[in-house]
Amino acid sequence: MRRLLLVAALALAGFPPPAAAEAAPRLEAPHYDFDRATIRKGAELFAQRCFACHSVAHIRYQRLETDLGMPLGTLEDDIMLPSDARIHQGMVSAMRPQDAAKWFGVAPPDLTLEARYRGIDWIYTYLKSFYRDPKRPTGFNNHVFKNVAMPDVLEPLQGILAADGRVIKKGSVSPQQFDRDAADITAWLQYTSDPSKLEREALGPWVIGFLAVFTLLAYALKRVVWRRVHRGASQAGS
Ligand code: HEC
Repeated sequence: MRRLLLVAALALAGFPPPAAAEAAPRLEAPHYDFDRATIRKGAELFAQRCFACHSVAHIRYQRLETDLGMPLGTLEDDIMLPSDARIHQGMVSAMRPQDAAKWFGVAPPDLTLEARYRGIDWIYTYLKSFYRDPKRPTGFNNHVFKNVAMPDVLEPLQGILAADGRVIKKGSVSPQQFDRDAADITAWLQYTSDPSKLEREALGPWVIGFLAVFTLLAYALKRVVWRRVHRGASQAGS
């Protein structure tokens, strides 16, 4: 009771509760169609901009061909960066974790399940939230991941932003195109965290079709059987 009174007195005195002191930034939801074309674009961007540091070790290269329809030639040109990579292996970055930890202070985590761990909105907002901060060793900070050790690797595309969102340097693509690129990378990480979603969705119409045909057949069978039952009953009655 005494504690309650104290809290009430503090609230009256105008002290904010501790959680409200620093509001968490609002997460933004990406807009994309979760289809092969989007995920493929995301996979290519990932290969060019992220794979040097991050693995998605639970995805085998092979799946890019079977699930996303990337022909082997494209796979080797665009994705298979480590020279010793084989098609049946998981996508492991060429960077050794111990070297990465030395360079960045933290080893870049495997991102296969990142979308399940953080959520899609978080990843999308994170990729868009880097800003210039001369106090950080990389020269950049992030609104949703304070004091992040990752450099602003999408800076050539997005340009450089100040903490308040002001543009310090323009990027090579328009802000709309940058949003699409960040959304494609997010779609790719959604795919790696649940690769069978594509297959499940492709299978859906077939399952519904099967159920519809089966219902019609069952109904036709029921009519035949009951017609015989009724006929039998009327013959027995006469
Ligand atoms: C130069 C190396 C490097 C590159 C390239 C890089 N990252 Fe990172 N990334 C890191 C490091 C290091 C961390 C760990 C940051 C920390 O814990 O402070 C990290 C963290 C992350 C996280 C947060 C992980 C968590 O803790 O939940 C995500 C998401 C991420 N990176 C996505 C990406 C994406 C997407 C790309 C490509 C657009 C990319 N990274 C490119 C080094 C890199």
